[in-house]
Amino acid sequence: SDQSVRDRIQRPLRDLRISLTDRCNFRCRYCMPKEVFGPNFAFLPSNHLLTFEEITRLVKLFKEEGVRKIRLTGGEPLLRKGIDELVSSISQLGVDDIALTTNGSMLTNKMARRLKDAGLHRVTISLDSLDNDAFMAMNDVRFPVSKVLDAIHVATNVGLSPVKINMVVKRGWNEQSILAMANYFRGTGCVLRFIEYMDVGNSNGWNMNEVVMADEIISVIHSVWPLRRKPPKYVGEVAQRYEYLDGQGEIGVVASVTRAFCGACTRARLSSEGRLYTCLFASKGHDLRSMLRSGASDSELRSFISRVWLNRDDRYSELRSALSVRKNKVEMSHIGG
Ligand code: GTP
Ligand code: 5AD
Ligand code: SF4
Ligand code: SF4
Repeated sequence: SDQSVRDRIQRPLRDLRISLTDRCNFRCRYCMPKEVFGPNFAFLPSNHLLTFEEITRLVKLFKEEGVRKIRLTGGEPLLRKGIDELVSSISQLGVDDIALTTNGSMLTNKMARRLKDAGLHRVTISLDSLDNDAFMAMNDVRFPVSKVLDAIHVATNVGLSPVKINMVVKRGWNEQSILAMANYFRGTGCVLRFIEYMDVGNSNGWNMNEVVMADEIISVIHSVWPLRRKPPKYVGEVAQRYEYLDGQGEIGVVASVTRAFCGACTRARLSSEGRLYTCLFASKGHDLRSMLRSGASDSELRSFISRVWLNRDDRYSELRSALSVRKNKVEMSHIGG
């Protein structure tokens, strides 16, 4: 039977999402708006970031505590130099699934090849619209759609697949792009996922009126290309899957606002400065970096991690609607999606 650590509502620890940097070359309106993340914003100095050796050591220990899946995120993870070496060390530990979430801006053919050879299994690439004006308004650095499409092709060609595409849908910004996106990725083998705009962090000025609900997204697509629900691929899968009745593949919706999925949430998050968070919406993390840098032993680190998990009772998305006071939350670019 499964002896691994369970939190206060019996959820095991299975996934570790690691943010490699709090920096990004995009300024997506819903994540790092320019008004907040401007030229004078104080990003972490490099000696505050976990080194690849520190990350690899932690991955080994988390694995011993039950983690089977690693996702590398950011900020933009490809801003970290030599990331393929990190992938290679993690891969040597024998993890079931190693994935990377990226904006695609630096995913050249050479980089994709290197990552694949290092042992990366797959990538998820963010793309919010096929319409250049809409996309440039959302990334706010005038980054063109065509270069992200190139990255998607490159990832597909080297076999970092199935390639998933994340589209955050924000009312008034890109809901008019839903059908064009569905049409473009149907039949390509890429899995397009529509993401409800979430109230992560404190800087994006989130407002419920800007959320396009999963029901609406699905019905817009279903009215043109009929869909049916598909069972989850694994327990606690974040996205709900739908397949096209005409056999042209599947899509997903990540509906953290209208269909919360905390009940089966097995995800821990490690920020780039080495803090452990037990929820995307947590206000504070647990400092693993000082333990690492003050000579903690493997068993001390393991028992700390297991104690943090044992005490976990987070289920923010399920409670969101009931919360009367807005709480102070960590930024998404800090701990990664
Ligand atoms: P797969 O391994 O392919 O299933 O990936 P994933 O869907 O878990 O990861 P991805 O990084 O692509 O996340 C998709 C969207 O879901 C992003 O907007 C994430 O921020 C959001 N998301 C992922 N995990 C959680 C979570 O635990 N809670 C909430 N509220 N949102 C999450
Ligand atoms: N709401 C929903 N998704 C978000 N992402 C970043 N900020 C938000 C938000 N406020 C998405 C990114 C990326 C994924 C990791 O998280 O677009 O695809
Ligand atoms: Fe960068 Fe991703 Fe945040 Fe956009 S959503 S600013 S690409 S980290
Ligand atoms: Fe997990 Fe927190 Fe997301 Fe709920 S809101 S699914 S507990 S990370």
